[in-house]
Amino acid sequence: MKLSTSFNALALASRALAAHIPRQSNDTGYSVQEPPLTTPWTYEVGTDPWPEYPRPLFQRPQWQSLNGIWRHQNYSSIQAVNSPPVGQTLQNAVMVPSCLESGLSGLQGEYMFYNWYSTSFTVPQSWTGDRVLLNFGAVDYEATVVVNGQEAGFNRGGYHAFSLDITELLTSGTNELLVFAHDPTDSDPFVIPIGKQTLRPSHIFYRPCSGIWQSVWIESAPANYVTELNLNADMDGKVSGAISTSTNTSTSVEMIFTLRGGSGGASTHGASTGDFSFTVESPALWSLDSPNLYDIEITVGQDKFKSYTGFRTVSRGVIDGIERPLLNGEFVFLFGTLDQGYWPDGLYVPPNYEAMVYDLKTLKQIGYNGLRKHIKVETDLFYKACDEMGLFLIQDMPSLRPLQERTLADCTVETIEPNAAQQAEFQRQLELLIQQHRNYPSILIWVIYNEGWGQITEPYYPEFALTDIVEGLDPSRLVIATSGWYDHGAGDFSDNHHYANPQCGSPFYSIQSSPYDPSRIGIQGEFGGIGQNTTIEHLWNVQEAINAINQTYEIDETRDAWNYRAHRLLGELEDQVEMYACSGGIWTQTTDVEGEVNGMLTYDRRVLRPDLAQWNADINALYDAAAARSNSSMRLL
Ligand SMILES: *[C@@H]1O[C@H](CO)[C@@H](O)[C@H](O)[C@H]1NC(C)=O
Ligand SMILES: *[C@@H]1O[C@H](CO)[C@@H](O)[C@H](O)[C@H]1NC(C)=O
Ligand SMILES: *[C@@H]1O[C@H](CO)[C@@H](O)[C@H](O)[C@H]1NC(C)=O
Ligand SMILES: *[C@@H]1O[C@H](CO)[C@@H](O)[C@H](O)[C@H]1NC(C)=O
Ligand SMILES: *[C@@H]1O[C@H](CO)[C@@H](O)[C@H](O)[C@H]1NC(C)=O
Ligand SMILES: *[C@@H]1O[C@H](CO)[C@@H](O)[C@H](O)[C@H]1NC(C)=O
Repeated sequence: MKLSTSFNALALASRALAAHIPRQSNDTGYSVQEPPLTTPWTYEVGTDPWPEYPRPLFQRPQWQSLNGIWRHQNYSSIQAVNSPPVGQTLQNAVMVPSCLESGLSGLQGEYMFYNWYSTSFTVPQSWTGDRVLLNFGAVDYEATVVVNGQEAGFNRGGYHAFSLDITELLTSGTNELLVFAHDPTDSDPFVIPIGKQTLRPSHIFYRPCSGIWQSVWIESAPANYVTELNLNADMDGKVSGAISTSTNTSTSVEMIFTLRGGSGGASTHGASTGDFSFTVESPALWSLDSPNLYDIEITVGQDKFKSYTGFRTVSRGVIDGIERPLLNGEFVFLFGTLDQGYWPDGLYVPPNYEAMVYDLKTLKQIGYNGLRKHIKVETDLFYKACDEMGLFLIQDMPSLRPLQERTLADCTVETIEPNAAQQAEFQRQLELLIQQHRNYPSILIWVIYNEGWGQITEPYYPEFALTDIVEGLDPSRLVIATSGWYDHGAGDFSDNHHYANPQCGSPFYSIQSSPYDPSRIGIQGEFGGIGQNTTIEHLWNVQEAINAINQTYEIDETRDAWNYRAHRLLGELEDQVEMYACSGGIWTQTTDVEGEVNGMLTYDRRVLRPDLAQWNADINALYDAAAARSNSSMRLL
């Protein structure tokens, strides 16, 4: 079998060589800490990380990035939050944004529970008279923000953006910004959304990410500024949603839609704050094959900003007697990877935009048409990239504490379940996930629970009420209430997880999965996961991780054997599309991560495993089999 060596010849190799001299920034004291494995981009980040405009769906013209090298100090107790180090020089230089446990942070620390960060900034003269908003893309897990010695705000939750109006705290000269980040990860007694992060990495659970891990920036806004934009555009041209402003005064709204890259003119629509609805005539639709986007210029009183949308409708329908997910009224077979979004140099933070998009381009090249963003939330720029590339997203809510059990003093083992307050906080953060991401056309499906992690599995079965809440906040998408394991009938999908071979919409199933339920859409939310060990220069060089490689569901000794096994497994899925009720599959996974060696790419992104010609053919066979099952002329016969 032919291996796809040509892929490896991509510019990556030479860039990797050039990259091996760590960049020292002598005036700041920052340098990358050599991580257990690098990527081709590790030493290209420099001291100006993530310079791109961070919020593409809501771009105000006047903004200033605060990303770069800040100061940081690690403390031993939560009490440190009560003593902001005003005017002090903190111990270490640190990269913002980054995970404090990552090499790119400059610290690569452990047990980073209690952290003060400091930086300073000046506000451009031209902003005088307007409000100044301080924005954080995400801080894991709790953030206390102090500006010029005064508390500016607090946020709980590591996966969502927050914005603080700091106008009244500013001076005309240099302003001091302090942020206290408290991140307990999975230490007792915390049961909080953390996804795959753990203080004790073990095979499928990874090194944690603490602190300010997404962009920080300031922007100028008028006195009555937009605080929330909810906008959905469907295949019939209907645009609906709601706009809220800081003063709640009713304000007129103008929106100008222009097809990106198109030659047609603009279409202008009037609305008002609060709920709105109007129609754009005959829009070019967003689909996976033609991801047409419309740029929108929005004016709400004095507040002017840019956004974009895609016109598309996600629904569910019966075709040839089978429940199917529909995009713009047609059954689209969803074939993606389980995408963890981890990096050996940045953990939760890709080294840069190019690196992040490299994963997405690789998936397209193999033949995937989307991905399942697995119990992690990405930066807004990631969703923008999927919107632009026509990749579907199944977006998971980050799970509560995934390691299910705790050993008590008497050596008995108990299953960890959230108490009522922890469950309420999980729900609040789930609602924020939906509210902050429902404008991205590429997201088609929300996932509430993964494999029972943090799921209360006795009656009342919380996934029923949570599904109602998600559908209430976002009626325009489908919901997977439980992806794998404990399915009690909630949501739009009957989602099976099985390794290595799939059991998709089929009359066979195994322990921990449920029989296929024909009243819902059959999908294989995880399968594959076959591994092939690699050489030490492509492995996460941490002994515990290397020791865990033998826990892989299946290890194939050569890349040829791995491709052969993949061919058989994809063929089984194809049979299930042809014979049964399979509407999509998610292959585990995009890249190797720590002790897992089952990626399309190794963890360092330097080696691609698939034989591209074979995978292209096998994946196209899935799309063809699905198309044949939804052929309208066949349906009439
Ligand atoms: C930093 O490095 C540059 C170039 O090597 C040198 O010119 C400069 O004096 C250094 N600055 C400090 C503060 O050491
Ligand atoms: C940070 O502080 C914690 C105590 O809260 C300590 O256990 C840990 O070793 C410290 N980490 C570093 C890198 O200093
Ligand atoms: C605007 O309305 C929201 C929701 O009703 C409320 O929480 C907020 O306090 C109001 N703001 C002002 C400035 O009245
Ligand atoms: C995997 O390897 C580790 C370390 O080499 C060893 O302790 C463990 O027994 C092995 N497990 C299996 C299932 O082979
Ligand atoms: C995987 O490869 C590494 C590096 O050669 C080696 O140390 C490890 O024992 C291998 N593990 C398995 C399960 O093959
Ligand atoms: C759909 O059915 C028609 C008539 O049976 C056939 O000619 C056509 O090739 C089918 N299309 C696909 C995509 O299978």
